[in-house]
Amino acid sequence: MADRLAGQVALITGGGSGIGRAAVLRFAAEGAQVLIADRDRAAAESVMREVPGAAVAVGDVSLAADAEAMTKAALDRFGRLDILINNAGMSFTASVLDMAEADWRRVFDVNLTSMFLMCKFAIPAMARTGGGRIVNTGSGLGVVIGPGGKTAYSTSKAAVVHFTKCLAVDHAAAGIRVNCVCPGPVESPMFLRNPAELRERLAQSRPLRRIGKAEEIANAMLFLASEESSYITGHALMVDGGGSIV
Ligand SMILES: NC(=O)c1ccc[n+]([C@@H]2O[C@H](COP(=O)([O-])OP(=O)(O)OC[C@H]3O[C@@H](n4cnc5c(N)ncnc54)[C@H](O)[C@@H]3O)[C@@H](O)[C@H]2O)c1
Repeated sequence: MADRLAGQVALITGGGSGIGRAAVLRFAAEGAQVLIADRDRAAAESVMREVPGAAVAVGDVSLAADAEAMTKAALDRFGRLDILINNAGMSFTASVLDMAEADWRRVFDVNLTSMFLMCKFAIPAMARTGGGRIVNTGSGLGVVIGPGGKTAYSTSKAAVVHFTKCLAVDHAAAGIRVNCVCPGPVESPMFLRNPAELRERLAQSRPLRRIGKAEEIANAMLFLASEESSYITGHALMVDGGGSIV
C-alpha cells in the first residue's frame, strides 16, 4: 500500500530527527503532504531534502507564537490540515532533589504544554474541513515506572495519556480522533545518549529482547492517523516490545 494518506496534509513536530523523521518519511511515502516542524533548522531542512514537496517550519513548540506559526505554515503552504503528530519532546534524568525548578517546568512545557498549544491552533483548522486525526507521542515511561531518575519525564508523559483521552471526548463531535503512541526504548539520537549498559538492560528486559526502531513507531502513528483506525479514539497504544506487560 502506498496511498493511505493520499490528499492529506500532516504536520509533524520534532520531524527533524528520530521518530519524527521516520514519521515524515513514512507519511510522505503514503501520499501525505508533510510540514516538518522543528526547532532545529538544519535537521528539519535535511529531512525536507529527503522528501520532495515537504515544507519546514522552524520554532519551539512550547511557545504559543511558534505553535501558531507552525499551523499557519501548513495552511499557507498546503491549504488545509488533516493530521497533527505531536511528537517533539525532551528527556531529562534527575530526581526531584537534584532538579532545578526551571528544568521541571521546561520538561512540562516541551512535553505537555506544547501539545495544548499545537492542538489549540490545529483543531479549529481541522474542524473547518470536517475533522482530522491527532496522534500524540507519549512514552512507555508514562504508563509504567522505569529505572529511576525519570520523575519529571514520566509524569509529563503520563499526562499526555490523559490529555489524549480528554481531547478525544471534547472533539469527537467535530470529527477529530485523538490517540497516542507510547514507545518503549527506540533507537534515536535521544535514546542513544543513554549509557550502553542501560541500553542493553532495557533491550533484554522486554519479551522481544531488543530496542525498537523509529520506523516501528512511525508505523503505529500511520495506523492511528489513517482510516484503518476509524473506530479508535482516546487510545494509548503501547509500542514497546512488550516491556509494559512483564
Ligand atoms: N527514543 C526513545 O527511546 C523514546 C521512547 C519513548 C518516547 N519517546 C518520545 O518520542 C519523541 C521523539 O523522540 P526521539 O527519540 O525521536 O528524539 P530525538 O531527540 O531524536 O528527536 C526529537 C526532535 O524534536 C525536536 N524538538 C525537541 N524539542 C523541541 C521543541 N521545544 N520545539 C520544537 N522541536 C523540538 C528536536 O530538535 C528533534 O529534532 C519524544 O516525545 C520522546 O519523548 C522517545
